[in-house]
Amino acid sequence: MTTQVTRLRFPDGFVWGAATAAYQIEGAATTDGRGPSIWDTFSHTPGKVDGGDTGDVAADHYRQFREDVALMAELGLSAYRFSVSWPRVQPGGRGPVNAKGIDYYERLVDGLLESGITPTLTLYHWDLPQELEDAGGWGSRDTAERFAEFATIVAARLGDRVPLWTTLNEPWCSAFLGYASGVHAPGLTDPALSLRAAHHLLLAHGLGTQALRAVLPPSGQVSITLNLCAVFPGSASPGAAEAVRRVDGLGNRIFLDPLLRGGYPFDVLRDTRQLTDWSFVLPGDLEIVGEPIDLLGINYYTPTVVDLGTPEAGPSPWPGCDDVVFVPQPGPSTAMGWTIDAQGLREVVRRVHGEYGGIPLMITENGAAFDDRLNSDGGVNDAERIAYLRDHLAVVHEAIGSGVDLRGYFVWSLLDNFEWSYGYSKRFGIVHVDYETQRRVWKDSAHWYREVIRANGIDQE
Ligand code: FCB
Repeated sequence: MTTQVTRLRFPDGFVWGAATAAYQIEGAATTDGRGPSIWDTFSHTPGKVDGGDTGDVAADHYRQFREDVALMAELGLSAYRFSVSWPRVQPGGRGPVNAKGIDYYERLVDGLLESGITPTLTLYHWDLPQELEDAGGWGSRDTAERFAEFATIVAARLGDRVPLWTTLNEPWCSAFLGYASGVHAPGLTDPALSLRAAHHLLLAHGLGTQALRAVLPPSGQVSITLNLCAVFPGSASPGAAEAVRRVDGLGNRIFLDPLLRGGYPFDVLRDTRQLTDWSFVLPGDLEIVGEPIDLLGINYYTPTVVDLGTPEAGPSPWPGCDDVVFVPQPGPSTAMGWTIDAQGLREVVRRVHGEYGGIPLMITENGAAFDDRLNSDGGVNDAERIAYLRDHLAVVHEAIGSGVDLRGYFVWSLLDNFEWSYGYSKRFGIVHVDYETQRRVWKDSAHWYREVIRANGIDQE
């Protein structure tokens, strides 16, 4: 019997990308006038990051960016999603520009353009200047104003060359991992403060969008990237449905509704009422937060299955969801322990497309960590990663076929890198990094991805 292979072709112009973030790859933490960010402080605090790892050197991309751009060109990427380190550009988060910092991003952008790769720029991927945290961080409204100033600075320099701008990456993580569970910088565990932070992040997005619009050429596109949850009930009980509602509220609608529907969901306000009266939402804020955007970025890794029950003790990143438990799923999972199930991506895309006015979408992150090892012939056999990527791309293809305006896909990540509180213990790259020598080695998935890009499609059995 022969197996039939079908080629799933993507539309012409589909964006094939890879993503990274400044603190995870750049290193050069004190080079050329860069100031400290909350992640420098956090990673240098004993016990916060596995192995005591820090982003001081990371994948040394600050120094090796030209080689890395050459690698991207060899892969055939049509776009590269990177983030700008705010404390490189404004070391204290306010005031004068550090010329060397912004010059660096100009060299990166020009290098990408010379190689035919479209730069896709994220302004904030979690590395808040420490001085702003000391002044109240995302709990302070002023941080949103400072973000808009930063957006203006970067857009004034690069707006003529960068076609797609993302204000924030995953504000859920900034607010709730940073200020509620404390597993991310700045490591605080204050549920009321985390809700305040969520609002100020959204306000920063709105003010940042206005700032970008004022500077970018009319063709410039503005977006935000959310890590949306595909939430499924863990049982058929009414309690499970209630848990789904709550987690969908605090994971998805708390961001989607003010961004795209003009206000916070009533049930989320009610669920969190015992923590805060939401008086930090001032008149006019919701108009700013709802400033129209051109595209929504979605990061997806794994589905979320919930029920009602007694959660583990300790600070939770889910304020207002006190009796919700996260139900582990059988079946294959990644090195993060995250269940592998592309069904979740299907659900997230279907939902956002159907309920939020058909806003254009981009998958700005998708990928998997596995315990990759260099083999004796010097390569890395990561068949599991290839299978993961193929399955999720098949869902992207299907969504496009059913009429969703889904414009591109960015694999997370181009390179192995500093995986936040897991340090260097988790490898998400399609390119392996030896942190001793900083040598890059293509994993099998990188070879595979190059062929996918070349064919503008995936083969499926
Ligand atoms: C996302 C982050 C990204 C990376 C992946 C694995 O939440 O945006 O920086 O850590 O997870």
